[in-house]
Amino acid sequence: MEQKKIVYSGIQPSGNLTLGNYIGAVRNFGKMQEEFDCIYAIADLHSITVRQEPALLRRRTNELFALLLAAGVDPEKSILYVQSQVPAHAQMTWVLNCFTYMGELSRMTQFKDKSQKHSDNVNAGLLDYPVLMAADILLYQANLVPVGADQKQHLEITRDIAARFNGVYGDVFTIPEPYIPEVGARVMSLQVPTEKMSKSDPNENGFIAILDPPDVIMRKMKRAVTDSDTENAVRVAPEKPGVSNLIGIYAVLQNKTTQQVEEEFRGKGYGAFKPAVAEAIIETLKPIQDEYARYLKDKAQLEALMKQGAERAERIAVRTLNKAMKKVGFILRSY
Ligand code: TYM
Repeated sequence: MEQKKIVYSGIQPSGNLTLGNYIGAVRNFGKMQEEFDCIYAIADLHSITVRQEPALLRRRTNELFALLLAAGVDPEKSILYVQSQVPAHAQMTWVLNCFTYMGELSRMTQFKDKSQKHSDNVNAGLLDYPVLMAADILLYQANLVPVGADQKQHLEITRDIAARFNGVYGDVFTIPEPYIPEVGARVMSLQVPTEKMSKSDPNENGFIAILDPPDVIMRKMKRAVTDSDTENAVRVAPEKPGVSNLIGIYAVLQNKTTQQVEEEFRGKGYGAFKPAVAEAIIETLKPIQDEYARYLKDKAQLEALMKQGAERAERIAVRTLNKAMKKVGFILRSY
């Protein structure tokens, strides 16, 4: 039998998951598990590169675990786990650090953005963030990594690090490919449509959280910035980033092309379009919200699934870590 390809992705538990995270990544998680061997991580080690309140981080980690289950990740078909529960990630990061250049890391767009935003705390972890992400991906020998467009640069550096290591030691790591959706790879803020929708946006009207109730979704959509032209036409255009963003969202959720959406709303204007987008979002999120509430109530089940996920992930991760450590010249501890 042909070996299934391996899919790996991660999400940070540092805020409300947004419609951007859903459309760019999570939406594909459930779908991909039919065809591939999927591994999904809650990337809590990445989260502490910016200061976190401990109790809140703990709560969000639990909530995100429940939310991914609710969004269709099946813990029997896929591996779902919490990154900090598998120490191999930190160990692998150290080894890979020694195969990564300062220059490459300091050129990363996300590093530059975040060091501006958190100028009082430009810590070494923030710079090293992509190496930890490379360790995540490479430990599982992933072939495909479903992410939004904002993570593309981190995938490129992962490929460079892997190729560099392989160049010295032979074929240790699989070189991964990004899997970025054509529409919805970059869902934009509803208030500033030239910026990506972000869970850390202080303006709540800029994003839709996966757990937002229907009335909030409707309100945020009605307030969404559409462009200040008089045309009022539902049309994708560079000078209409607000409407173009909404068309992209609607197209993905309705499984339509953007042209089909333009066709559907020809002559109807924003007044008809915005509530239709809100309805499509509400309809998509409703079953996830219902399931989420159910998973979150059963603490014992969550705990058991978390333990099972970490054990299964660790078995794979340790195998790759040991292989890499041996190549480098470390003597593996005997048990
Ligand atoms: P994070 O937690 O910021 O985001 C999770 C996923 O959501 C995607 N995304 C978006 N997609 C479309 N439009 C948006 N506005 C939008 N905002 C976020 C992100 O691209 C991502 O796929 N470093 C990663 C987490 C990570 C990871 C990994 C990912 C850690 N290790 C290994 C892949 C493989 C991050 O911070 O994602």
